[in-house]
Amino acid sequence: MAGGWFETVAHAQRRAQRRLPPSVYGALVAGSEKGVTLAENQDAFARIGFAPHVVGHKAERQLATTVMGIPVELPVLMSPTGVQAVHPDGEVAVARAAANRGTIMGLSSFASKPVEEVIEANPHTLFQMYWSGSRDVMMQRMERARAAGVRGLIATLDWSFSNGRDWGSPWIPEKLTAKVAARFAPQALRRPGWLFDYLKTRRLPDLTAPNLQPPGGEAPTFFGAYYEWMTTPPPTWEDVAWLREQWGGPFLLKGVARIDDAKRAADIGVTALSVSNHGGNNLDTTPATIRLLPGIAEAVGDQVEVLLDGGVRRGSDVAKALALGARAVMIGRAYLWGLAANGQAGVENVIDLLRGGLDSAVLGLGKGSIAELGAEDLVVPDGFFLRLGAAAHAEAMIG
Ligand SMILES: Cc1cc2nc3c(=O)[nH]c(=O)nc-3n(C[C@H](O)[C@H](O)[C@H](O)COP(=O)(O)O)c2cc1C
Repeated sequence: MAGGWFETVAHAQRRAQRRLPPSVYGALVAGSEKGVTLAENQDAFARIGFAPHVVGHKAERQLATTVMGIPVELPVLMSPTGVQAVHPDGEVAVARAAANRGTIMGLSSFASKPVEEVIEANPHTLFQMYWSGSRDVMMQRMERARAAGVRGLIATLDWSFSNGRDWGSPWIPEKLTAKVAARFAPQALRRPGWLFDYLKTRRLPDLTAPNLQPPGGEAPTFFGAYYEWMTTPPPTWEDVAWLREQWGGPFLLKGVARIDDAKRAADIGVTALSVSNHGGNNLDTTPATIRLLPGIAEAVGDQVEVLLDGGVRRGSDVAKALALGARAVMIGRAYLWGLAANGQAGVENVIDLLRGGLDSAVLGLGKGSIAELGAEDLVVPDGFFLRLGAAAHAEAMIG
């Protein structure tokens, strides 16, 4: 085990890079094309400053809230991620860490662990689906998740199958056959810590998607699942309304970048939406999510819970998102780096860092609660905010 506490997410990422086989590390870095959005998501947070007070700080600070009716001890959720050959316990370790720290687990339909096991680790789990397969197939997957006890559905609909990275895509095998293992062996042997964790479990990463298994059938491979998704005609707003109705419970639409889309989402009655560009893995050069947040929060924040994901690496990033209208944020790579660096304890470490950083920001800004954070606490460059899909697109800037 690499073991040991780390003091920032950047530190966990360096440890992950040392510990993981290069193709596994590369799959987590992800990004697309030139990596502009991937970098911008993080850089944009750094361009926002704070306006702290010197005196008048509060001794008690309230960081708890609710998201889609679920109480959370801090406004940071685990965003669903589909590549968890990072650690043998994968999503179960992330779910346990989230439960121990009082927050919500988002489980990808491309996850490596069955939803039933993840719910056991964290009853506050949301299940994520893409628009993939026939309506009957989607119903069956939803019903399985419902029967397992998931608390809400995440529909991720922004994906547009863009691919290709200037720095090269990692090699992901269809299945870990003996031949594939032999090809993978040189890089795995250079990462004995990671390999040893898997050897202890007496199995290599299972590259299937158990939550997409048809009744009485076999779980599809990652590529099989991806093929089904790619060849499914994309949904209309009527299809999304159908999905929401079939689910009936708390429903989060993930991937919103535009105000017109946010309004359509509100019209069909979503519970929540996430301002998201899929962590920069999708259409490269889509602006950073934090730049799009205030316009969307202003437009629909009174009807829909507005979340944000993309680029959150520090508690101060969480404070900035909340000050600009988010109810909570979701994290992806931050917890993946923690998981790679130190398993469940590493994910807890990441959540603790975000909690500590958020608490410091609330303290320094002289607030007693996250609910009191507002735009007056921030310093934002001119022209920073963008209102994509607003009625007057030409007047696309606020602030
Ligand atoms: C390796 C990786 C796999 C992902 N897989 C999924 C997925 O299966 N479903 C999904 O809705 N989002 C997926 N995402 C997107 C995340 O849920 C989230 O939107 C993104 O990671 C947020 O950006 P951040 O990594 O900068 O926090 C994935 C992201 C990464 C990095």
